[in-house]
Amino acid sequence: MGRLCFRKCRLVRIMGWFQIILGGLVIIVSISSLFRFYSAGFFMHNEDICRHFYGVKDVYDGFDVKALSDRVEEVLSKMEKLQDKLEKTVQQMEKNKDAFYRANISRSEYKKFLEEEVIQPLYSAHIGLRQIRLPKVEGIHNTTMKEEPLINTFVIEEIRKYITPKENRIGKINIYGTERIYNTIGHACVLMKKELEEYMDYDIGSYCKDDWILAQKLMMNGCDPLPRRRCLTRASKLYQKPYAINESLWRLPDGRNVRWSNYQCRNFECLSSKNPKRGYSKCTGCFEMEKEKPKWVTNITLPIDFLMSDVLAIKPGEIRIGLDFGVGTGTFAARMREKNVTIISTALNLGAPFNEMIALRGLVPLYVTLNQRLPFFDNTMDLIHTAGFMDGWIDLLLMDFIMFDWDRILRPGGLLWIDRFFCKRKDLDDYMYMFLQLRYKKHKWAISPKSNDEVFLSALLEKPPRSL
Ligand SMILES: *[C@@H]1O[C@H](CO)[C@@H](O)[C@H](O)[C@H]1NC(C)=O
Ligand SMILES: *[C@@H]1O[C@H](CO)[C@@H](O)[C@H](O)[C@H]1NC(C)=O
Ligand SMILES: *[C@@H]1O[C@H](CO)[C@@H](O)[C@H](O)[C@H]1NC(C)=O
Ligand SMILES: *[C@@H]1O[C@H](CO)[C@@H](O)[C@H](O)[C@H]1NC(C)=O
Ligand SMILES: *[C@@H]1O[C@H](CO)[C@@H](O)[C@H](O)[C@H]1NC(C)=O
Repeated sequence: MGRLCFRKCRLVRIMGWFQIILGGLVIIVSISSLFRFYSAGFFMHNEDICRHFYGVKDVYDGFDVKALSDRVEEVLSKMEKLQDKLEKTVQQMEKNKDAFYRANISRSEYKKFLEEEVIQPLYSAHIGLRQIRLPKVEGIHNTTMKEEPLINTFVIEEIRKYITPKENRIGKINIYGTERIYNTIGHACVLMKKELEEYMDYDIGSYCKDDWILAQKLMMNGCDPLPRRRCLTRASKLYQKPYAINESLWRLPDGRNVRWSNYQCRNFECLSSKNPKRGYSKCTGCFEMEKEKPKWVTNITLPIDFLMSDVLAIKPGEIRIGLDFGVGTGTFAARMREKNVTIISTALNLGAPFNEMIALRGLVPLYVTLNQRLPFFDNTMDLIHTAGFMDGWIDLLLMDFIMFDWDRILRPGGLLWIDRFFCKRKDLDDYMYMFLQLRYKKHKWAISPKSNDEVFLSALLEKPPRSL
């Protein structure tokens, strides 16, 4: 009994301490914020308030004193509520002493109580305090309404704030030489208004929902670029440091470094091609290192499989940087890295954590869809390798835009390596026209049957000089 009491009493004592600490906190916060508020707000000119709060010389005219006072109110009321709740809990513990002694409070219940009743309210009060620093966005209802019709499409304040052009500080010209910065969103965001508003509905500064899958859906449906958000992205709780680079390239990463909640699998081993419930269909087997290792380095009999060494031998030492445009786990980039070539691999998390896998191997994943112009400048890449992404399903007009974008970023003398593109035999002429229209020099060109009515096409093409 004595021991039992010891534990329970300790709990009561701890709760008591919490109460005192929180009481202290409330008092400190009240005094300090009210002091700052009053000393700033009512005896100074508007500009002085800003100087007082920001500590900088540049003065933001539109500082919103009312929002500030609202925030302070909100935080105070949150803290008071918390204090009440804790007091009540302690009182109840006193009242029902006997029942309390009889019923065990387990560690997990205790933890749950602390998390839900204490930490979360404290956290939201903290967020409330942080928001005090945010100035009002001036002009959102005045100047921009006329010139920015898109803004009125959305109701959620955070989207409106995002797409409102941001004027420079008074009298300053920004790094682009313009007077304001336009944040951009994909035009299809308007079509997916409901989803976008769900995506942008969060508390500034707090944790985001675990909603990357919603973000990816928006992007793939053309809401790309997505707006940025001002919330903290979630990470795996048990994140381990990645393996060292001498091991990471060819070792299956630690599954704890991935948030698995939106996949069918819960670890990397489950993504094996032997598992029919692995949850993805493209690049089957690409999470098995022993299957990945022979790619592009060992002789395979099919003429459509070119060896990496043969390709690099065409331009010895000249191929240094490139893009791997496809679906995969970065094996092409890993092999190229061993040959001192830096490759960036495009990746979407279509049913499996492709981005995390590539990054954990120590390679660079580029999270882009087919929708967007590639984020590289003209004539910069030595190599573009493409496999597995675009096949015979792709619209010819879309493909045309993509081909010309590749041509844009490829440097003169750069190589375009089309690897195992496949389509229906009857469509082959159309696609061959696509690949040949740019009049690249043909280094390699191979066609093999895939099935009765489908064919594979591989090609190695070189962009000619453009001396106009
Ligand atoms: C209460 O906890 C003690 C020690 O943890 C355990 O031995 C006992 O069975 C528990 N009693 C009840 C009713 O759960
Ligand atoms: C608001 O709009 C009016 C005219 O529509 C303009 O004269 C005024 O300068 C604007 N206010 C601000 C703060 O931009
Ligand atoms: C990788 O490098 C570390 C030190 O840098 C070394 O301890 C480890 O043995 C190496 N692993 C392999 C597989 O070479
Ligand atoms: C691939 O096969 C060819 C001819 O069969 C041979 O000349 C070449 O050395 C082989 N390459 C490798 C990497 O095994
Ligand atoms: C890559 O670079 C390193 C260091 O410069 C060099 O030792 C190595 O031989 C190079 N590897 C290849 C395949 O060129």
